[in-house]
Amino acid sequence: MNTFKTIDDLDVVGKRVLVRADLNVPMQDGKPSDTTRLERSAQTIKDLTAKGAKVVVLSHFGRPKGKVVADMSLEPVCVAMATILGKPVAFARDTIGESAKGVVATMQDGDVAMLENLRFHAEEEKNDPAFADALAVLGDVYVNDAFSTAHRAHASTEALARKLPAAAGRLMQAELEALGKALGTPQKPVAAVVGGAKVSTKMEVLGNLSKKVDMIIIGGGMANTFLLAQGHDIGKSLCEKDMAEDARAIIASAAATGCEIVLPVDVVVASEFAANAQNKVVGVDAIPADMMALDIGPASVADIEKRLAQCKTLVWNGPFGAFEIEPFDAGTNAVAQAAARLTREGKLRSVAGGGDTVAALVNAGAAQDFSYISTAGGAFLEWIEGKTLPGVAALMN
Ligand code: 3PG
Ligand code: MG
Repeated sequence: MNTFKTIDDLDVVGKRVLVRADLNVPMQDGKPSDTTRLERSAQTIKDLTAKGAKVVVLSHFGRPKGKVVADMSLEPVCVAMATILGKPVAFARDTIGESAKGVVATMQDGDVAMLENLRFHAEEEKNDPAFADALAVLGDVYVNDAFSTAHRAHASTEALARKLPAAAGRLMQAELEALGKALGTPQKPVAAVVGGAKVSTKMEVLGNLSKKVDMIIIGGGMANTFLLAQGHDIGKSLCEKDMAEDARAIIASAAATGCEIVLPVDVVVASEFAANAQNKVVGVDAIPADMMALDIGPASVADIEKRLAQCKTLVWNGPFGAFEIEPFDAGTNAVAQAAARLTREGKLRSVAGGGDTVAALVNAGAAQDFSYISTAGGAFLEWIEGKTLPGVAALMN
């Protein structure tokens, strides 16, 4: 059966619980600049300590490639986590061995400790069984709360899950439940927004979604490649000319499974990619040769809003336009706000993921109204590609 245990199924009183979290947060001036992942991981730690467990937190941080890199230490993250939890978190200078054992040995029931960056050891990314053994001796039970790292088959996400009684943490559980409702057993019709610069990086996403959803609304630079594929002149717009054939194949195969590919009908064009560049709205068949499309236009926004109003479920990955520069965030903002409103009114279940996507929805002031915002970037993408995530597979009974 494709089910997983949760921390409600574990007896953790007095036990050492190894919690694999994803504390890979952005840093600025030596401090986490966005603590979302820390806050979302805190619930599991709180629930376990409340049950009388000794909680030992494991995470990677950055990509130190198997070496000790001073500015990739988890210590500042440990300090931030202590603030969020409102209690001390002991820090072990190494992930395994004497220093880790020493810290764990002094823990009382209800205490929390954090071990140094898993990726300071090259064996972590090799899914090395001996490294997983060295981690396993530090705990009695294993909880994986790192959905956003579940696309990596690493020792702490894969091998370790097979060495100790294992369960999903609260965040992992929430991600799996929300994502399951969005693509596993969704209420139909289902729409997907797929944006981003390149069609080539989204081929698998488009292929998998076209079998599962009723419409795919294409946004971002990749829409230009689709417009080109349909015979439009796209001027200086960002585009992958050699992907035009693939774009036509996607439209044809989607049509065969009853999935509509929705493209912009108008765009906002400018002569240069710059904030507040002079711009105008044109139809997609009137893009000037010396200009580039940087956003979708108002007719496209209205068309997409009308379609979303007919849908019950929305999965969103990728912004529409150059949302990082004004005013080319307007299309993304308008569609995001429409999705947020439909969600608030109880008419739409909306799920979004991916670093850029979440930033765009926050920028639009829409994120808090979405049904679910995933903490995952790469793992979210692989999940909508329909791939098995090794860290999730290892938790399944
Ligand atoms: C992420 O931030 O996407 C996850 O923490 C995974 O990190 P990685 O891409 O370095 O494996
Ligand atoms: Mg990543």
